[in-house]
Amino acid sequence: MKKKIFYFEKKGKENTETALKLALQRGEELGIKTFVVASTFGDVAEAFLKITPKKYNIIVVTHQAGFKEIGKIEITDEIKNKLINEGIKIITATHALSGVGAGVSMKFGGISAPEIIANTLRLFSQGMKVCVEITLIASDAGVIDMDNEIIAIGGTRRGADTVVVIKPAHSIHFFDLDIKEIVAMPRDK
Ligand SMILES: Cc1cc2nc3c(=O)[nH]c(=O)nc-3n(C[C@H](O)[C@H](O)[C@H](O)COP(=O)(O)O)c2cc1C
Repeated sequence: MKKKIFYFEKKGKENTETALKLALQRGEELGIKTFVVASTFGDVAEAFLKITPKKYNIIVVTHQAGFKEIGKIEITDEIKNKLINEGIKIITATHALSGVGAGVSMKFGGISAPEIIANTLRLFSQGMKVCVEITLIASDAGVIDMDNEIIAIGGTRRGADTVVVIKPAHSIHFFDLDIKEIVAMPRDK
């Protein structure tokens, strides 16, 4: 099988529109109906909503509370409600590849196994790590049909620059997760 990968010259949010279009296009080709999207403030979620037919199952994973500020989540209730009213599912939960492991290493030093996995995935791109992480989070939240492939969309800090086709797995079965295809990623890290 011969497939194309779209490489962005530069990482970052300026690639969002193209990344989202590529995600939709590959989804159409493969008959994938579930899209898992990382969105911290809701920008990528809103951009995706604008170009997506209603028939899709869109899951938006946000930062967990406390990532930037104790007790706070970046996305506002107003944007959340707007997305929910459009049928989008929003998941806010512990980051699967950091969580308590990161708490331990921040306090005592060293590095946890999930953080090693996260940094290894970052050899592809920040977005690759994010795509795997949000797939685990959405899987553990029970909002994904675990028998079918999904498309995950992540980025570098803001926006979207990485698109991956993934056969999902729950975090306790991490090594059953299967990265099937890279649709788009930045060449620049
Ligand atoms: C759970 C989660 C983990 C993330 N981890 C990283 C990361 O390790 N590195 C990074 O550059 N961006 C990370 N991001 C940012 C996303 O890849 C994406 O660019 C961002 O959520 C888009 O937000 P926006 O819609 O507000 O622009 C993370 C986002 C989420 C929701």
